[in-house]
Amino acid sequence: MSDAFILGIESSCDETAAAVVRSGEEVISNVVHSQIATHQPFGGVVPELASREHLRAIVPVVREALEDAGQSYQTIDALAVTKGPGLAGSLLVGLSYAKALAYALQKPLLAVNHLEGHIHAVLLEERQNGNHDLQFPVLALVVSGGHTHLFLAEKKDAGWIYHDVGHTRDDAAGEAFDKVAKLLELGYPGGPIIDFLAPHGNPEAVKFPFTQIKHRDRNPQNRYSAEERRVDFSYSGIKTAVLRYVETHEMCASIEQRRKALKDIAHPSREDVFAACDRQTLDLVASFQHAIVNDLAGKTLAAAQEHSAATLLVSGGVAANSELRRVFERRAAEQGLPVYFPSRKLSTDNAAMIAAAAYPRFLARDFADSELSTDAGLRLR
Ligand code: KG4
Ligand code: ZN
Repeated sequence: MSDAFILGIESSCDETAAAVVRSGEEVISNVVHSQIATHQPFGGVVPELASREHLRAIVPVVREALEDAGQSYQTIDALAVTKGPGLAGSLLVGLSYAKALAYALQKPLLAVNHLEGHIHAVLLEERQNGNHDLQFPVLALVVSGGHTHLFLAEKKDAGWIYHDVGHTRDDAAGEAFDKVAKLLELGYPGGPIIDFLAPHGNPEAVKFPFTQIKHRDRNPQNRYSAEERRVDFSYSGIKTAVLRYVETHEMCASIEQRRKALKDIAHPSREDVFAACDRQTLDLVASFQHAIVNDLAGKTLAAAQEHSAATLLVSGGVAANSELRRVFERRAAEQGLPVYFPSRKLSTDNAAMIAAAAYPRFLARDFADSELSTDAGLRLR
C-alpha cells in the first residue's frame, strides 16, 4: 500500500485545527489556531463566540496546514473531520466545511470521534518513534476540559473497539482546573498556570477528600458485573471545597488584590501571576493539583489492575500536566505497567490526532456518506 496523506480538521471546542498526517504515523503539518484570547475575559469557553471564531479561522488554517505540508487540495488522499462530541455550533463549522470540500474535490471523507482522536495522538507519536508494538488490552484515560473518561480498548478487524469502564459523574478534571483558576483570579485556561504555580506551594497544606473506589476481594466464582467494575470520577466537589476554603480562610481580599494587579497588565505572563500570589494561594493551588492528580492516578491504576490492562495511555489537555505525568509514571512502574503520553503539543486539541485516528478507517474504506452530521453527545464504543 502506498502512502496516504490525510487532511484532518478539528473544531469541537475552542481550537480551530488542521493537519496533514502520512499513513497514520507521521505528522507532516499541524496548525492550531487557539481562541484563548477570545474566551479569556470570560474565564471559560463561550459557545457562540467559539463558533464565530471557527468560521473566521477555518479557511486560513486549512490552507496553512496544506502549505506547511507541501500539499494541495488536489494531492491529499482523503479528509477526516471530528463528528463529536463537543459544542454543537463549533462542530458544525468544521464538519460543514469538510463535507463541502470533500464533495468539491471528490475525495473520501472520514468521520472521527474526538475522544478516539485523543487516544490516537499517543499511538501516532509512538509509531513515529518506531514503537509499533502495543500490548492489548489497552486502558486509555482521556482527561481534558470536557472529558474524564476511561476506555478499555481491544483490537477488532482493522480498528479498535472501546468499552466505557468509567467517567466523571459531573465536571471534567480540566474544568475543575479552569474553575479554580477563575475563582482565584489566576487567568485562563487554568491548567497550564496551576501547573506552573503548584511547585512553589506545599501540596500537603490542604487536605481534599475524595470518594474512594470500592475494592472488594476478587474471586473467580464471584466476578463483578460490568456495572460493579466501573470507576467513577467526580470533580465538582473539589471546586466547592476550594471556595469554602477561600471563604473560611479570608482569602477574598488577596484575590481581589491580584485581580487588580493583573488587570493593569495587557497580557500577564505566568511570572506576573506568580508575583501576584501569596504563600497561602500557592499552597492551596499545590494541594488542589496534588489531590486531583492522585485521585486520577489512583482510580486509573486500580482500574488497570481490575481489567488486567497490558498498556496504559493517558491523553487530553490535562495529560500535559507535569505532576500528573510524574505520578502516573511512578505508580504505573510500581505496577509494571507501560504508560504512554502524547507530547504536550498533541495532548491538547489538534487535528493531527483526527487524521491519525481516521487512517484505519481509510484502509477499510469506511467512508462517510452525504448524510453525515454532527453529534454533540457522540459516545465512543
Ligand atoms: O484537550 P483540550 O485541549 O480540550 C478539550 O477537549 O477539553 O483540554 C483543555 C483542558 C483545559 O481545561 C486546560 O485547563 C487543561 O486541558 N490543561 C491542563 C494543562 N494544560 C491544559 N490541565 C492541567 N495541567 C496542564 N498543564
Ligand atoms: Zn479534546
